[in-house]
Amino acid sequence: MNVTPILKIENLGHAYGSFKVIDDISLEIAPGELSALIGPNGAGKTTFYNVVSGRFPPTRGRVFFAGREITGRPAHKVVPLGMLRSFQITNIFPELTVRENVLVPLLLHHRRAFSLLRPLQGEKRLYRQADEVLEKVGIGAHADRPARELAYGDQRLVEMAIVLAREPKLVLLDEPTAGMNPEETTRMINLIKELAARFGTTFFLTEHDMKVVFAIASRIFVLHQGVLLAAGTPEEIRNDPRVREAYLGGGTLPC
Ligand SMILES: Nc1ncnc2c1ncn2[C@@H]1O[C@H](COP(=O)(O)OP(=O)(O)OP(=O)(O)O)[C@@H](O)[C@H]1O
Ligand SMILES: [Mg+2]
Repeated sequence: MNVTPILKIENLGHAYGSFKVIDDISLEIAPGELSALIGPNGAGKTTFYNVVSGRFPPTRGRVFFAGREITGRPAHKVVPLGMLRSFQITNIFPELTVRENVLVPLLLHHRRAFSLLRPLQGEKRLYRQADEVLEKVGIGAHADRPARELAYGDQRLVEMAIVLAREPKLVLLDEPTAGMNPEETTRMINLIKELAARFGTTFFLTEHDMKVVFAIASRIFVLHQGVLLAAGTPEEIRNDPRVREAYLGGGTLPC
């Protein structure tokens, strides 16, 4: 890779006692690339994200973000560098309005600046920033509604807005379309592609729905029982007998 990878993983591992949940994973992702991590249930995808994003420390290996080593850094120190993630389970405040859901993390993030600079000025800017990001993901019309009133697919867009408000360079999405209906899924696919194209945001997602994976990702990594089984273009992955074997005992991939 000629450009500095936005994410570089070297021999990464995580164990619960003697159980190696993920082991010896190495991969690189270029800035702006759309890639996916796939693998059967329990393969270790969420654990991998947890270790990369600083939620769990690795038991071996190294993590580099935009050329800087971040191995073992806790999540709150990784986020300001520009790596954000969404969770497999929707993670919003149901009683707050949609705008407040985006605004609160922004306010917390800028707290120190407020105490030093003119507070009102700063706050107005953050309100504008929140509204812009809600427009960006297509839920601007719901800004004043409590988040709990929104349809499930829109709630996941609130989550996406919370992540994007921090202007991330890399976004790890853990099953962004899980539980969505076909229409919501299509909307999410289009949004991810549009955000990547317009703003150069790098997305790295896990997904069970192969239609989503093949619609979004130009590179796919396959995790099986904690180890990286294959990496390649959608075409290469589709035709890889090891991947077929891992998924369905040699059957066809669901795509
Ligand atoms: N806190 C924990 N303690 C012990 N084992 C755990 C813990 N969390 C996860 N595991 C195990 O680690 C393995 C990987 O889990 P993980 O959630 O990372 O898989 P996944 O690929 O994200 O699965 P899914 O597709 O179902 O989301 C599983 O066998 C799981 O049971
Ligand atoms: Mg998972």
